[in-house]
Amino acid sequence: MRLGIIGCGNISETYFESQNLFNNFNVVACADINMEAAKKHAEKYNVKALSVDDILSNEEVDLIINLTIPSAHKEIIIKSLNAGKHCFSEKPLAMNFNEGIEISKLANEKKLYVGCAPDTFLGAAGQKARAIIEDNKIGNVVLGTFNLMSHGMEHWHPNPDFFFKPGAGPVFDVGVYYITQLINLIGPVKSISSISGTATPERTITSEPRNGEKIKVETPTTLMGTLEFHNNAKIQFFCSWDVWKHNHSTIELYGLNGSMVIPDPNFFSGDILISNKEEDWQVVNNDEMSLGIPNKTDNDDSKIANYRGIGLSEMIDSINNNRQARCSLELAIHVLEVMEGIIKSSEGKEIYNLITKPVQPNFLDDSEIEKLKK
Ligand SMILES: NC(=O)c1ccc[n+]([C@@H]2O[C@H](COP(=O)([O-])OP(=O)(O)OC[C@H]3O[C@@H](n4cnc5c(N)ncnc54)[C@H](O)[C@@H]3O)[C@@H](O)[C@H]2O)c1
Repeated sequence: MRLGIIGCGNISETYFESQNLFNNFNVVACADINMEAAKKHAEKYNVKALSVDDILSNEEVDLIINLTIPSAHKEIIIKSLNAGKHCFSEKPLAMNFNEGIEISKLANEKKLYVGCAPDTFLGAAGQKARAIIEDNKIGNVVLGTFNLMSHGMEHWHPNPDFFFKPGAGPVFDVGVYYITQLINLIGPVKSISSISGTATPERTITSEPRNGEKIKVETPTTLMGTLEFHNNAKIQFFCSWDVWKHNHSTIELYGLNGSMVIPDPNFFSGDILISNKEEDWQVVNNDEMSLGIPNKTDNDDSKIANYRGIGLSEMIDSINNNRQARCSLELAIHVLEVMEGIIKSSEGKEIYNLITKPVQPNFLDDSEIEKLKK
């Protein structure tokens, strides 16, 4: 399939490079409201630099990858659908649940696919953890926790403003990985109870080139609470950009017969810990699975597995075979409703009951992945 990228910022390199990992797509053009950004990437990856309108009307483009900032996601997805093109978007799908419903109506009407990141839950750690739960190694999951805490994004991203506006914050920007992983592992969410806080009304950028500039905080920077899942599991969460250091693990699940610790769902691999009742932890390594083999070098020179693009490749395979994609619109809308529900529950100080209830995405076997890998 021939792809056009809209939004040539920080994450676009990862998507340009993903065409070297998977065999069913090629990027043929790119666009950005900032034409200089489009031209720079077009030159580096030997594709056409077009205006947003021209990429949407270009007949050589079958599918749009939407890598704009969250406040532009809905607009670009709707325009792609109206131009007769499928769309795969970076997360979050849109700014709120109503925008998600609007996208869903149009996608159904046009009979086109919309997929959404994150796709990291399709990685080795996510799929191995899923297999452990389905093999009943820890019994029915009844309780759990997830923790994501740091001191924000203003120290590394060159343009960190959007992280502190509605549509981002720790839940929409990072919690999205955790929530999607949990739905992959134990199914959809039923209800939410949460509280929120904002430690400081202003943040100071410490990254270059805008070092010293202030950002007004317009969305809560801490959210804490509980998600109740349809399988009755209760998962406590703590999402914050107001914490300098902590010692919690990322995701822990407690079953009737044992416990498991799951690595950071922002990554494709990482050791899983499992224990039976009171026994010692056992390490389950997944570095030899298809999406666990280290293929990139991280900032600290360690080798990591990074297969971003698998969700897009799997969606293209689903389009070709007329089945629902793993990173489906149905899943993305549910995740969006959960994220909005967390904010709404904290604002109204009441339990939020979800309307949506997607099916759990199917397990993704290594044999299926091998057919998509280059
Ligand atoms: N940076 C990361 O590491 C990372 C990782 C995972 C996901 N994401 C997600 O990817 C998306 C983009 O993030 P980023 O870090 O690349 O942001 P960025 O600010 O670096 O890049 C966004 C680009 O989109 C362009 N843009 C904005 N509005 C537009 C519009 N209406 N039409 C066309 N172009 C438009 C901007 O000019 C900019 O070049 C966000 O939704 C983010 O949550 C980013």
